[in-house]
Amino acid sequence: MLEPLIKWFEENQRPLPWRTSYDPYQVWISEVMLQQTQVETALPYYERFIRQLPSIEALAKADEERVLTLWAGLGYYRRAKNLIAAARQIVAKHGGKIPADYEALLGLPGIGQYMAGAILSIAFNEPYPVVDGNVRRVLSRLYGWTEDNPKALWDAAACAVREGEPRLVNQALMELGAKVCSFRSPRCLLCPLQISCAAFKTGMQEKIPLVKKRPATVQVHLFAVIHRRGTRFLMKSVDGMWEFPMYPELPSGSFKKIGECHHTITHHRLDVSVVEGRLSPEQLAWKQIDAIPISSLTRKIWKVKSAQK
Ligand code: ADE
Repeated sequence: MLEPLIKWFEENQRPLPWRTSYDPYQVWISEVMLQQTQVETALPYYERFIRQLPSIEALAKADEERVLTLWAGLGYYRRAKNLIAAARQIVAKHGGKIPADYEALLGLPGIGQYMAGAILSIAFNEPYPVVDGNVRRVLSRLYGWTEDNPKALWDAAACAVREGEPRLVNQALMELGAKVCSFRSPRCLLCPLQISCAAFKTGMQEKIPLVKKRPATVQVHLFAVIHRRGTRFLMKSVDGMWEFPMYPELPSGSFKKIGECHHTITHHRLDVSVVEGRLSPEQLAWKQIDAIPISSLTRKIWKVKSAQK
């Protein structure tokens, strides 16, 4: 049933850098980035990461601040820390080679069922299933499933991956979900699986998969304080990243508002007033912005300051 899908993938796949050699290290890095980030956004980060840390050994030796700096802007920074920890374990326990073994992969930090399946199928061409958001949508529509059933999805993905070359089948399912079987307005007329698709037959494609209720967005107001001395700023270290100190209410002292910015993280909407003033340096450090890993929110605050003059 999936033959037309594989043919479609071979003819239409995007020429992504990790698809040229299927080097396990490159596949792993790409998959970790793509777990929470779209291909177009991740690409420049991926290219720079591989250029600067081209091998497991290089990653294992890199210090955390350097890896976080390469990750800065992608969010979910735990991913970068897990990458270093896993690289160090791979060097210590697996001779510096990513193991082509499901259980061994699951024993590494940050590697779960999806990641183990992605590495085994894409890098090693082994028939292990993957289910991410795209695959879930494609398979649920193909089989007309209106209920969410993870076990049924993983079973269906496990059958699918045996229908062809594992790396082609799994990537084709993901690519179809990204480019054709999109969440809103799926392009069914272009779909290689149209004649087999239960959702298309019954016109249910826009109702499947069931949309999970998201928690309501919580609005939060914060003050970000910029205290400058020469080329340095008082910054706070948060899990290895650096931020301007932020407070729900300003500490005592005098502050001048210079602008504002907004940022959404999962279901929090942050409205940030950017102020200048003096802080007591306890638990803070004087840092030069261009030499430290900062998040997208800190970059936005920094832009408010840079645009001020
Ligand atoms: N999303 C996650 N992994 C992917 C891959 N290998 N190809 C396309 N999209 C993806």
